[in-house]
Amino acid sequence: MDNRPIGIFDSGVGGLTAALELTREAPQESFVYFGDTIRAPYGDRTPEDIRFLSRRNARFLRSRGVKALIVACNTSTANAMAELTADHADIPVVGTVAPTAAEAVRVSPGGRIGVIATGAVIRSGIYERTIRSLAPEAQIASVACPKLVPLIEAGHTAPEDPALLDALREYLAPLMEARIDTLVLGCTHYPLVREAALAVLGRPLPLVDSGGACVSTILAALAAHNDLADPAARRTERFYCSGRINEFTAVARGFLGHDIAPVTEEIDVAPF
Ligand code: DGL
Repeated sequence: MDNRPIGIFDSGVGGLTAALELTREAPQESFVYFGDTIRAPYGDRTPEDIRFLSRRNARFLRSRGVKALIVACNTSTANAMAELTADHADIPVVGTVAPTAAEAVRVSPGGRIGVIATGAVIRSGIYERTIRSLAPEAQIASVACPKLVPLIEAGHTAPEDPALLDALREYLAPLMEARIDTLVLGCTHYPLVREAALAVLGRPLPLVDSGGACVSTILAALAAHNDLADPAARRTERFYCSGRINEFTAVARGFLGHDIAPVTEEIDVAPF
């Protein structure tokens, strides 16, 4: 058994969707969360920039003694997974895309899969490639949604928020026209606006949560080496963000359903 925490990082609050799923699936596991809130959104950045920041984030979490890494950011997964797994070959490192694509193929009734994600993820083509490798016949329609992460980081998550609904209508219209039967939330921020997305879609489509999808993969990797935490051990959660603490704390509190203020610290990864 290994009682050290699991490290989780994202550009901001999105990776909290993985943290919440972790607490549901493995309530005995401790975690350390880092949101690079001052540099979000990552989705408008170059692949080089995203790689650089992702590697720094992972090094920061390693400096906090984590036993595994969840790359709870599709944008980092799409652009930096090879570097992250090479840098941290001694511990399990899991990204979002492979487990999310597998889940989408599993739940899609007719193989008509819509993907919404950041510009950098859609430009990388990683979801199309990964889904097609699992289901060559799948019909895939993808839309980049650059307005969503800034809105969510700023706290526009209520299902009746007008700016959020306008953005979702714009992004989801082509997917509804394409008659998708499953929607991949290919950005870990998007489950925070799940209710608004369902309202815009107007029908109960399976929504695949890329934050949650990677959790069972990391737990399986830990279990394979007998490295899950002892259920009797004291569990801890620590949250770090690189700035905008008030917004981060408010969104996190609303989403996780408990107060995280005492363990939120402002850090900057620049000294690495
Ligand atoms: N949560 C990140 C993702 O899954 C958002 C990236 C961004 O900051 O644009 O891609």
